Amino acid sequence: MRTHHCGEILPEHIDSDVRLCGWVQGSRDHGGVIFIDLRDRSGVVQVVVDPDIDSGKGETGGIFHLAESARNESVMRVEGQVRRRPAGTENKNLPTGRVEVVARAMEMLNPSDSLPFQLDEEGVNEALRLKYRYLDLRKDEMQKRLRLRHRVTKAIRRFLDALDFVDVETPVLTRSTPEGARDYLVPSRTQHGLFFALPQSPQLFKQLLMVAGVERYYQIARCFRDEDLRADRQPEFTQLDMEMSFVAESDVRGVVEEMMRALFAEVLEVDLPDPFPLMTYAEAMRDYGSDSPDLRIPMRFTDITDECKAVEFKVFSAPASRDDGRVAAMRVPGGGALTRQQIDGYTEFVAGLGARGLAWVKVNDAATGRGGLQSPILKFLPDETVRAIVRRTGAADGDLIFFGADRAGIVNDSLGALRVRLGRDLSLVESGWRPLWVVDFPLLAKDPAGGQWAALHHPFTAPRGEDLDKLESAPGEVRSRAYDLVLNGTEVGGGSIRIHRREVQQRVFRALGMDEETGAAKFGFLLEAMRYGAPPHGGIALGLDRLSAMLSGADSIRDVIAFPKTQKASCLLTDAPGVVDPAQLKELGYTVAPSKEPSP
Ligand code: AMO
Ligand code: AMP
Repeated sequence: MRTHHCGEILPEHIDSDVRLCGWVQGSRDHGGVIFIDLRDRSGVVQVVVDPDIDSGKGETGGIFHLAESARNESVMRVEGQVRRRPAGTENKNLPTGRVEVVARAMEMLNPSDSLPFQLDEEGVNEALRLKYRYLDLRKDEMQKRLRLRHRVTKAIRRFLDALDFVDVETPVLTRSTPEGARDYLVPSRTQHGLFFALPQSPQLFKQLLMVAGVERYYQIARCFRDEDLRADRQPEFTQLDMEMSFVAESDVRGVVEEMMRALFAEVLEVDLPDPFPLMTYAEAMRDYGSDSPDLRIPMRFTDITDECKAVEFKVFSAPASRDDGRVAAMRVPGGGALTRQQIDGYTEFVAGLGARGLAWVKVNDAATGRGGLQSPILKFLPDETVRAIVRRTGAADGDLIFFGADRAGIVNDSLGALRVRLGRDLSLVESGWRPLWVVDFPLLAKDPAGGQWAALHHPFTAPRGEDLDKLESAPGEVRSRAYDLVLNGTEVGGGSIRIHRREVQQRVFRALGMDEETGAAKFGFLLEAMRYGAPPHGGIALGLDRLSAMLSGADSIRDVIAFPKTQKASCLLTDAPGVVDPAQLKELGYTVAPSKEPSP
């Protein structure tokens, strides 16, 4: 149908005859001459439709009429000759801006109705964009993101292939693979009352592949998690999933680091550090209140729990004296300029995260001691405590110090989030890429609701050998052999060395409150496989959507997924989930109970 692509017409084609196909991006009527911007995936070229050229050809209706009536986003075929644009009419912003195609013939391949939104319109409501995603994806920015993602997977495959990793597909109709979210269930037609679960990850199958002797596995795998959605979470998403046999933590991290460096070099021409820094979970929580700290923000906590145990100020001394409490200070460079109103705003912000207040001290003139400080809490604190706080936070004139005092969880969540918010608000976020490994996570964490121990990562993560003895006596103190890859404050990946011995796996199941019968019923196949020469193994999974979003500078992973779902996990384009035919339900043996909530 065509001889050239629109975006490829250059001065070297002047006088050539070309045939082009594409979409009408826009058209302008300039006193009897019509200019059409014709776009295909390669770019845009200007087509000139001049009635004088049309005259005498006697085409049906004439191409001038066709051009005049073509709505934006109609699909057309154009035949014509390339010529240099008249002097002064060149468009320097367009690769094809020095030439134009003078139309000799045109064909309307498919007219478009008037559009729900214009492709170059700013601030189009996201719901509308998602409903007409095929139009949204026509935008240059979105096309670039789709291609960037393709380049990411291509670079990853090439890298892993060179290291002899084997790409193996694992089932989507399977049993529950716990990763901390709810499962999506699929009823079985052939076995009434039984269900498949869609995998939250290929975790168990990749471990079985290690038992099967594959040794180096990877897969670009779709995962399904029915969880509360945010900008960086989708109910179905893609992992780069990997597993290796006969490895320690440093081997897995080493391969991933190399891969990340190769990827960033290829896609962004950026050199990531070598090696990536390593931080323990305990350090991350102590200094940043988060297990995925953004190292581009030059603020950290100073723990002052010990300073505050004996002070009169109950707001500080009460949590400081509790086992699970902490008092932390955070120096905000230049924060002295914050107004009362701004501080009130931040107090409201941390209140939303459970904090009962946000004490602060402004440092006007550190050298003059107490007199150089300004704060509503100063009067409650003894001189030596005030001095110690200023010294230990390193606060200088013009700075402000914020305080969090409560259960450690609340202080970490609220002050940690405030750190990120202040980083943005005060433009303190440094540019560049700051990868980080977070290691030595606790194996288990107490479920705040039920008080039951739950796996912090998943139940197949190996405990550190030297902590194994504490599994029964002090489960909260057992560290795992897990590692998370954090990039600019986003957790892009997580993995671990796995349990490969059956008795250890059974002990961990027991610590999780799973009796032998339940363990066998849920994961009997894994325990069974561990009897027959399961090698030591470990791996990791990287969130490919998150990684692609970061590499393309998108705010949300929705922008790098062709057909994403909304916060409510629905697809506005296809209207999924939808009702099903009663006959189909009957065949499965189900009826839908009437909803308790009134329908919208
Ligand atoms: P984990 O649950 O940490 O580990 O997931 C690995 C990575 O997947 C990404 N991710 C998500 N991306 C988008 N939407 C979601 N809902 C979502 N959930 C997770 C994150 C995360 O770091 N089987 C283990 C890996 C292993 O141990 O090897 C696992 O799935 O970037
Ligand atoms: P109050 O004595 O409750 O008026 O609090 C005095 C100051 O301490 C105010 O600036 C409060 O915002 C702050 N504050 C109160 N509770 C906390 C807390 N749990 N953590 C940090 N600051 C607090």
